[in-house]
Amino acid sequence: MLSKKIEKALNSQIQIEAQSSQVYLSMASWAENQGFEGVAQFMYAHSDEERMHMLKLVKFVNERGGHARVSSLEEPSAKFGSFKDMFQTLFDHEVMVSASINDLVHISLEERDYATHNFLQWYVAEQIEEEALARNILDKINLIGDDKGGLYLFDNDVKQLVGQQAPPA
Ligand code: FEO
Repeated sequence: MLSKKIEKALNSQIQIEAQSSQVYLSMASWAENQGFEGVAQFMYAHSDEERMHMLKLVKFVNERGGHARVSSLEEPSAKFGSFKDMFQTLFDHEVMVSASINDLVHISLEERDYATHNFLQWYVAEQIEEEALARNILDKINLIGDDKGGLYLFDNDVKQLVGQQAPPA
């Protein structure tokens, strides 16, 4: 059985994952509008992944006798400036998500909830992957700078990353 404190913290993580899915969906739409098909595909897939992260939490909370909540979300930005800005936003967002997962792990230990602690290890590993991927993409963008041809090739490159965003659940 989940303590009220853990239940509340897990529900707040459900909201963060749902919000992440919305943010990446908005990035996908923006990239698609700019004609960058590869980046759009990458962001659509990433948005789906976040929904999967959310659902995994929903099922866990309910399985453990809690009540997973579906809460309202903020409208994400619709414009992201440049690719560099957009991937920087993605990276910063993932750093925030990692911090939130770390807080959750901390609470699970405080509450001596070892089942939740064990469950959260998947998210800890996932956040390492997500941050590394975002950092890797940012490094590539920094190499390209504003070169149009380079950005075109980058868009194709990113297509190859679709499906590699996360280990299977
Ligand atoms: Fe579900 Fe990208 O963190």
